[in-house]
Amino acid sequence: MSAPREQFGSKLGFILAAAGSAVGIGNMVGFPVAATKNGGGAFLLIYAIFVLVICLPVMLAEMAVGRHSQKDPLGAYNKLSGGAAGWRLAGWLSIITPFMIAVFYMVITVWIFGYLFHSVTGDLNMLADPSTFGSFINSPSVFIFLGIVTALVYLILLGGVQEGIEKAAKLLMPTLFFMLIGMVIFVLTLDNAFAGVEYYLIPDFSKITASTVSSALSQAFFSLSLGMGIMITYGSYLNRSNGVPGAAKMVALTDTAVAFIAGLMIIPAVFSFNPDTNTSELSDSSVSLIFSFLPKIFLALQATIGYLGASIVASVFFLLVFFAAITSLVSILEVPNAALMDERDMTRKSSLMVLGVAMLVLALVSITSFGMVDFFTQFVGYAGQSKSFFDVLVDVFYDTILPFNGFLICIFVIYRWKKANFNAELDHGEPSYEGSFFEKYVDFSVGTFIPVILLLIFINTVALKFFGQGLIG
Ligand code: PHE
Repeated sequence: MSAPREQFGSKLGFILAAAGSAVGIGNMVGFPVAATKNGGGAFLLIYAIFVLVICLPVMLAEMAVGRHSQKDPLGAYNKLSGGAAGWRLAGWLSIITPFMIAVFYMVITVWIFGYLFHSVTGDLNMLADPSTFGSFINSPSVFIFLGIVTALVYLILLGGVQEGIEKAAKLLMPTLFFMLIGMVIFVLTLDNAFAGVEYYLIPDFSKITASTVSSALSQAFFSLSLGMGIMITYGSYLNRSNGVPGAAKMVALTDTAVAFIAGLMIIPAVFSFNPDTNTSELSDSSVSLIFSFLPKIFLALQATIGYLGASIVASVFFLLVFFAAITSLVSILEVPNAALMDERDMTRKSSLMVLGVAMLVLALVSITSFGMVDFFTQFVGYAGQSKSFFDVLVDVFYDTILPFNGFLICIFVIYRWKKANFNAELDHGEPSYEGSFFEKYVDFSVGTFIPVILLLIFINTVALKFFGQGLIG
């Protein structure tokens, strides 16, 4: 007999851990960038609708499958489908996807940690130099930072569900929230900050196109940590007396609120730096925003608050993003970890060992694929472009697979596991859900238009990414 399954200590612990997973780099920078480029308030509105109408039901599907099966995603698909080979494949996909996303997310977290280190040690003027990012990512110091971040994540995971994951979330999430609020208050006192607030909040519906709509959905899906097996795994650690729908709502609300507030920190800071900012200057990607654009803005603060003050602001910012990233990394690595423990009967320690080695190897390959090693830098070519190993991970796992995994879980829950079982699971621990309008909506949507939309997004992304030709937008 193996040991009884680990569990979160309380519903609050579960909500904080799941919100810790959801709140990540995507909220802190991805969302503000996407919102400013895509019509401000108009994007916010579409995003909020997607969270409510599409993502929340998918989150319920994942959590219900996890809590009912008390298994990792591979085991869950297997158990609830009676071992059907096709569904096993879906299970595998929800183990491989998080593992691969963890690799590239680890690389970005390592860079964030590096920038945090340099802000704290007084090198802000170096970070603000436009050539720094390129040289930093190819410098030997990234290996040291990789070692530190890996050790930290593994220590948390080694602590287990209650003593590791839950404790870390209980400490990091409230701290993150207070730092974020502090930063927003500070940024709003800067000159011209309100031009940024206006820009962020006033809707410009003319910027809304088919591709904006599809990117809002992808952003929401990623931000809520869906399609990665995380909510299945965390759900499997939830005691059946704790209600799922209420918890899922809290997670979605927290994640969306944090993304929204992060926008109130970033956009006004950008506008106070340059009141005439137009969005085409706002970097295309989150990566260039964090590592090239923001350090410049922080350094410019020295005119008003001195170099030390500017360095403190930069340090708080990077610490904030680092905390957000760590709780996400922990959650995503717990998925393959749970699979090794459940499916191979390994202890947490030995499973983390295996995973750690595999993870480090792939992280090293990714980290050297920005120029250090030619083979990984020019790894493959498609859609007329040469792609590094890192690019491939981003294109395949981050950009493409998530909606497909979402499609699979919807079909699975309604047509294989069956609606009645799904509902019974959600009613358990939350009797008021039974027969509610929300229940009817979730049932209907998960069985009909949600999977259709997710499949369309998947097909469009494949066409766009790999064949250079989108179907919409
Ligand atoms: N929700 C996370 C974010 O917004 C996405 C994520 C979760 C990525 C877990 C990796 C691991 O950044």
